[in-house]
Amino acid sequence: MTLPALSQDFSAAFAADVRAGLTRRPQKELPSKYLYDEVGSSLFEAITTLPEYGVTRAEERLLTQHAVDIVAQLPAGVTVAELGSGSGRKTRRILEALCRKRPTAYCPIEISRTALQLCRRELGDIERISIVGYERDYLAGLAEVSKRRAENEQLLVLFLGSTIGNFARLAATRFLRDIRAMLKPGDALLLGTDLVKPVDTLLAAYDDPIGVTAAFDLNLLARINRELGGDFPLDAFEHVARFNADARSVEMHLRATRHVTAHVRAADLTVTMAPGETIWTESSHKYLADEVPAIAGDAGFTCRRQWIECEWGFAESLLVVS
Ligand code: AVJ
Repeated sequence: MTLPALSQDFSAAFAADVRAGLTRRPQKELPSKYLYDEVGSSLFEAITTLPEYGVTRAEERLLTQHAVDIVAQLPAGVTVAELGSGSGRKTRRILEALCRKRPTAYCPIEISRTALQLCRRELGDIERISIVGYERDYLAGLAEVSKRRAENEQLLVLFLGSTIGNFARLAATRFLRDIRAMLKPGDALLLGTDLVKPVDTLLAAYDDPIGVTAAFDLNLLARINRELGGDFPLDAFEHVARFNADARSVEMHLRATRHVTAHVRAADLTVTMAPGETIWTESSHKYLADEVPAIAGDAGFTCRRQWIECEWGFAESLLVVS
């Protein structure tokens, strides 16, 4: 069977990233984007319903309460481009408020075809919406949406859910700058950020007692076994969440509980791990509300307004092109 060119490229890139990450010293690591295959995305959806993970509910409360207010800040007739469509549930509020005013185009940008289909199913019933999905990574997708727009058409970019937390702080500013480079005066970016909160609250959110987050994390090794011909013994790993006070981030790691030797055929790789050694799989940076206008400024945006949810601690910031 011949795989379509795209997925062959994808596997080769996945194998190269696995090889680079697992030969890194002193800390082995894997890029967090590979957590989100079909199994991982389903497990993440389950995480968003856990009592310990307040992030998604806090953002939903914010967007439900303030959708009309948010939309009132925008130029009339914007096209909406969303980076990472997720399930579409949070976005519904904004889109409904926009479509009540006038027909609106919604362009979810997402590397997962499954997620795009789900989002179309979830949001397709909104009156006067037209959905055009882009199966691309964020910046390539946004470049295309921006290129295709009419002269007088303005963009609202949505980057919700605190997905920006996956980036280290400097990389986050660089990413915002890359977005800014594709925008024009009058365009806007609505950015969701999870806020700093007590460490025990954060650790519980990323290491829940029934082990959904642990399964989400372990799925990364299971995925390497499935897709790249790996033989990681999953029972030799445990999920760990740590707070990195310097970076103000929660780190997820997979820790070997005994000596491990594993092979990854497609990456032509043999990995050995000592007991206690970890693979760093994801970081979730937490923000101070004041930090967002500052990094926005560094990236060429002005923070026009912020809406803050105080019960959990989450901020929605409307950044405009300055
Ligand atoms: C999807 C990146 C926003 O960092 O909170 C949740 C991912 N990982 N639990 C986050 C995640 C483990 C989530 N983001």
